[in-house]
Amino acid sequence: MSTQAPVRKVTVNTLQALKKRGEKFACLTAYDSLFAELISSAGAEVILVGDSLGMVLQGHDSTLPVTLDDMIYHMTCVRAGNTGALVMADLPFMSYAAEPQTLESAAALMRVGAHMVKLEGGAWIAESTRLLTERGIPVCAHMGLTPQSINRLGGYRVQGRDTSQANAMVEEAQMLEDKGASILLLECVPVELARQITELLSIPVIGIGAGPHTDGQIMVMHDMLGITPPSIKPPKFIKNFLPESNDGIRGAFAAYVAAVKNGSFPAPEHCFN
Ligand code: KIV
Repeated sequence: MSTQAPVRKVTVNTLQALKKRGEKFACLTAYDSLFAELISSAGAEVILVGDSLGMVLQGHDSTLPVTLDDMIYHMTCVRAGNTGALVMADLPFMSYAAEPQTLESAAALMRVGAHMVKLEGGAWIAESTRLLTERGIPVCAHMGLTPQSINRLGGYRVQGRDTSQANAMVEEAQMLEDKGASILLLECVPVELARQITELLSIPVIGIGAGPHTDGQIMVMHDMLGITPPSIKPPKFIKNFLPESNDGIRGAFAAYVAAVKNGSFPAPEHCFN
């Protein structure tokens, strides 16, 4: 009889079931096979191959220079190390500006092993969400602070603080779910707005700087290891888990996963009210 543990394979259904049971799930970014192995083995349910790689790996001051070829390369690396997490890949800046282009870009990422693609935007990505979903490509819609729009937003700031912006965000989140989005990601929004959206939607909601009530939490890997590049002002919502690890980087990933699941992260000091 085999003594090997069964291989865990996280799917959208797994996340949906966790949301139903009120159990939190943990997500982290990764960009290569080694870290994909460490993060998935630590029990994180989701790995994001994020276009944040433009800032933490390539040294740019925004995510705008990242290309689809960059994303394909890093997605291929992550696939090689992943041990069962659901892997989402970002569609980078201007790779989904028109509908046929969106389908081609998403297909390229799915061909190298992505399980889902992530697009930044609200109502304007609704039609792309429908097209992708109908053709078998699951979508994570990223709302709130959307770094690819940094030049329009005017800075890395909390979004949805005023009532009309908050109401619009609630409406657009519902619209994206109705169009078939499998996951919503909220970045840098006030705690109560994130709570309202999480309770309203039936799809899982992942938060970063969005308080403790979202179904899952995500952080950029470098931020939770305390190695945010010096050129980036560390955001309020990050926490370095390395000091509380007794097993180096492996222990820091395990501590993060445990803190998300037991609800001790994010704490009030990581949230916007
Ligand atoms: O690119 C990225 O890493 C992201 C996270 C900040 C959510 O979109």
